[in-house]
Amino acid sequence: MNHSTPSILTAYDINNITLRNRLAVAPMTRVSATQTGVATDAMARYYERFAKGGFGLVITEGIYTDQRFSQGYPFQPGLTDTEQALAWRSVTDQVHAQDAAVFAQLMHAGALSQGNRFTRQTAAPSATRPKGEQMPFYFGEGQYPVPVAMTDEDIADAIAGFAQAAKRSVLEADFDGVEIHGANGYLLDQFLTAYTNHRNDRWGGSTQQRVGLILEVIKAVREAIGGAPVGVRISQGKVNDFGHKWANGEHDAEVIFGSLKDVGVDYIHVTEFEAWQPAFASSTTSLAALARRHAPGVVLIANGALHNEEHAKAVLADGADILAIGKAALANPDYPNRLAGGHTLSAFDTSILGPIANIKESELAM
Ligand SMILES: Cc1cc2nc3c(=O)[nH]c(=O)nc-3n(C[C@H](O)[C@H](O)[C@H](O)COP(=O)(O)O)c2cc1C
Repeated sequence: MNHSTPSILTAYDINNITLRNRLAVAPMTRVSATQTGVATDAMARYYERFAKGGFGLVITEGIYTDQRFSQGYPFQPGLTDTEQALAWRSVTDQVHAQDAAVFAQLMHAGALSQGNRFTRQTAAPSATRPKGEQMPFYFGEGQYPVPVAMTDEDIADAIAGFAQAAKRSVLEADFDGVEIHGANGYLLDQFLTAYTNHRNDRWGGSTQQRVGLILEVIKAVREAIGGAPVGVRISQGKVNDFGHKWANGEHDAEVIFGSLKDVGVDYIHVTEFEAWQPAFASSTTSLAALARRHAPGVVLIANGALHNEEHAKAVLADGADILAIGKAALANPDYPNRLAGGHTLSAFDTSILGPIANIKESELAM
């Protein structure tokens, strides 16, 4: 991408929020809060760099939403009490001072929790052990535990947790909007996914029923925060099942994206390993294009290896409005400024994330 694709560097509005360009930092968990989930100075400096480097929008790492089952990792930040919420102000103030907007990503880890200071028990739609192994760079080791199947009360608590965390995001922490993490294998995606959701109540069954919890969370969050932007992140792949594909292919895409539009979400953030690739083996259409087709008029963010001009252009042509950049933003916190100036990009160095994925002093010096 360079001067030949100026549109990515032009302003764009989400609701009443004007972004100076269409480049967002993708949400990335960096386990750098205090043990009690309070955002730190290092985090404020870390996020400020992206805003200074020209990103129009910063989406935070996944933030846990309640004091029961939502926390996924030790040193993950939370939004569950006033102390946690007010600590985020040092982040939001720094980002705003650099003329960027910042959205809080709200996350419930469900069965993939590998460190929760409130309980050792994990909870999920069904008592099925997750595939794969815990992530060492987030302090995990070995198999995931078998979760308890959530009761109606647990589900109501989880919904209320999202709504309350959203309220704190906007009213106390001064975020410009929120993104509900419905992707990558965490709780809401566990409900959406047939093989992790064996329920036969209103939350399980058809795709329409399995997407139901995401829709209820969006409604509750909307009611909690009124007009501030409410987005949702959706994926097929999961941190513990990278290549997962929706069983009913394009039909599932129609049900999922269509019902997200109908419930009135402000933006849909789709993430795939390579966002420009066909979403299904039987199709030539990307997930972004399917979201565009079935959720017309809803702002569309696309993510997945889009730090390449040709691929970025393909996804924009598929209908994406904003591109979210992950690892390339870690390597180039000034990615938009480099694009604007025609400068080359630094390659991503995996050592940033090892042995633990916490924020490194060397990064803050970049
Ligand atoms: C260290 C790291 C942490 C991540 N944490 C989150 C997260 O908290 N929430 C989320 O939705 N995605 C998370 N992701 C996924 C990224 O948002 C993004 O989807 C992924 O890096 C692919 O985009 P890229 O090819 O531009 O890097 C994480 C990725 C990395 C590398």
